[in-house]
Amino acid sequence: MNIVLTGFMGTGKTVTGKIVSERLGMEFIDTDKIIEEREKDRIVRIFQTKGEKYFRKIEEEVIEEVSKKDNCVIATGGGAIISERNFKNLKKNGILICLSAKPSVIFKRTFSSKDRPLLLKSKPAIQIIKELLEKRKPYYSKADYTIDTSSLKPEQVAEKIIEIYKNEKNKNKT
Ligand code: S3P
Repeated sequence: MNIVLTGFMGTGKTVTGKIVSERLGMEFIDTDKIIEEREKDRIVRIFQTKGEKYFRKIEEEVIEEVSKKDNCVIATGGGAIISERNFKNLKKNGILICLSAKPSVIFKRTFSSKDRPLLLKSKPAIQIIKELLEKRKPYYSKADYTIDTSSLKPEQVAEKIIEIYKNEKNKNKT
């Protein structure tokens, strides 16, 4: 069984995912990182040169591949779960955990980042965050669990994830 982390940019999927994988001795997979390695380019540049549609296509291919693995902690990009194909693939062998945070917290955590192409538009970032969050609500709510990380440290979030994982493993035994 995999632990799949979904949720908006800046909710701590990568940082917490790494902690969880170390604590549980599971492999850590970051789908954005695989895309960058495969394309030999930064996500932000892929968006600029080849467009979002192209990025989403590669993202679907990568997610299909990593979903076949077992015993991994998979951190996905914030938009991955919007695709029904990604959702189905990730669900096959994974517990879906959505990390959430208040818009103001997301803003604080992402405002100095140059790696978030969707936040580098002409509109103020806080407005984009609020609009995207609203649009994506129905998709994020399809996760098995949601953890609000707004006032938690990554270690605390990791502990919650580990607890969920252990409970799920016990459920599957009985
Ligand atoms: C995206 C989130 C990013 C990355 C890409 C698109 C999104 O990942 O996949 O910029 O659509 O929300 P993070 O959530 O890791 O920042």
